[in-house]
Amino acid sequence: MAQQSAEFVVVANRLPVDLEKLPDGTQRWKRSPGGLVTALEPMLRSREGAWVGWPGLADADAEPFVEDGLTLHPVRLSGQEVEDYYEGFSNGTLWPLYHDVVAPPAFHRHWWQAYVTVNKRFAQAVAEVAGQGATVWIQDYQLQLLPAELRALRPDLRIGFFLHIPFPPTELFQQLPWRKEIVEGLLGADLVGFHTPGGVRNFRWLATRFTDATPGARNEVNYGGRTVKLGAFPISIDSAHLDELSRTPEVQQRAKEIRNDLGNPERVILGVDRLDYTKGIDVRLRAFEELLLEDRAGDTVMIQLATPSRERVEHYQTMRAGIEQSVGRINGSYARVGHPVLHYLHQSLPRDELAAFFVAADVMLVTPLRDGMNLVAKEYVACRGDLGGVLVLSEFAGAAIELKESVLVNPHDTDGVKNALHRALTMPPEESRKRMRSLRRQVLSHDVDRWARSFLDALGLPS
Ligand code: ADP
Ligand code: G6P
Repeated sequence: MAQQSAEFVVVANRLPVDLEKLPDGTQRWKRSPGGLVTALEPMLRSREGAWVGWPGLADADAEPFVEDGLTLHPVRLSGQEVEDYYEGFSNGTLWPLYHDVVAPPAFHRHWWQAYVTVNKRFAQAVAEVAGQGATVWIQDYQLQLLPAELRALRPDLRIGFFLHIPFPPTELFQQLPWRKEIVEGLLGADLVGFHTPGGVRNFRWLATRFTDATPGARNEVNYGGRTVKLGAFPISIDSAHLDELSRTPEVQQRAKEIRNDLGNPERVILGVDRLDYTKGIDVRLRAFEELLLEDRAGDTVMIQLATPSRERVEHYQTMRAGIEQSVGRINGSYARVGHPVLHYLHQSLPRDELAAFFVAADVMLVTPLRDGMNLVAKEYVACRGDLGGVLVLSEFAGAAIELKESVLVNPHDTDGVKNALHRALTMPPEESRKRMRSLRRQVLSHDVDRWARSFLDALGLPS
């Protein structure tokens, strides 16, 4: 049994690194995908603590190990649990349900059973590593039962929960056959955090409607003789670090090389996402294709970088096939030999390479149908110390609340996206610089450290 000694414990479905099995049978650790890890890693670098999570492979037996002063505690999942808890209930039920049902969620009782079992296992694992009176910060939709499970085992702990994805409208949440259990699970925390005030309102209403919770002071509910605080904490990035990285001669030089490799077109459009159907990659490809068709794109090349994600889940397979077909069709119609108009990389790139792409892009297209925050939008802004570039951003990304000087679009409106893209491609530099200056003010002053501090302050953790 691990020692109960950590004063600060982060729990997420995934560890910040994934265990990878190489063809020669050896193993190595690599950075995990997604915004959660991007956000939490820098915050934890400055605090010694523990991180409890799944190492990303089925049936992987890994011992706890220390990385950058952080002790990582792997939680084992069987192949069947990966299917039912991770791919099933987390990503086949909750993910689409919480993202405005942009794909239909599936409700299966055996998925739910696995979700309960795995959440209990996480509770056991955390109970074993957290010291007396420690602070435990639980992350995201995969672990919504954990606050209550953990409180039952360890009432001495201070427990925070943060949801990294949108909390859905109440009408959608009510579809969930296990809505009461999920709300009760979350109410095990001392503080439940969302990205937006809308999430707080929806959760508060559901808590008082489906459980014994009663309304307390503003942003509080009373439950089981305790006060549960609720709050909105818009997440962010390590802005200063990215700003610095993007200004290095290496990144600047690499950005030039990228443009050169593209044949030095007048304009470069960029999309960067996990390959997920919520991200609206199809929307932006359609807008670009129509601009090409109408001969309004000018001398422009588009790049779409897409990190492989959840590849065994059916909606993801269908979406990937659709996108790859569009890429082929667009290049088939508009490329010249040696000069594709659209470059598509189904790969995960290192951070400095990604920064170079941000520096190289004149227009950043971020068009999710629904997104909790979208860190990519903020990363682009952080990389544009030269005040160059235009951000086109979906109204349905949490980031739109803060990034008001972007060109905001409704991703359901193809003409609107197309016209916004054209506007961005032809925007006078005085206007784009003014917008970028204001965006940067926001992103640089509201970084991930501020986010973490405000959450932990509200949780009552002495900083
Ligand atoms: P999500 O959390 O849904 O994946 P976010 O936009 O909030 O969406 O975060 C995505 C994170 O993954 C960002 O930090 C982004 O830089 C990173 N990322 C996305 N695509 C790639 C890629 N192709 N290569 C490397 N990193 C990527
Ligand atoms: C989003 C979710 C995270 C998740 C990440 C990557 O950021 O909010 O919880 O870890 O996507 O997805 P994956 O399924 O690969 O962990």
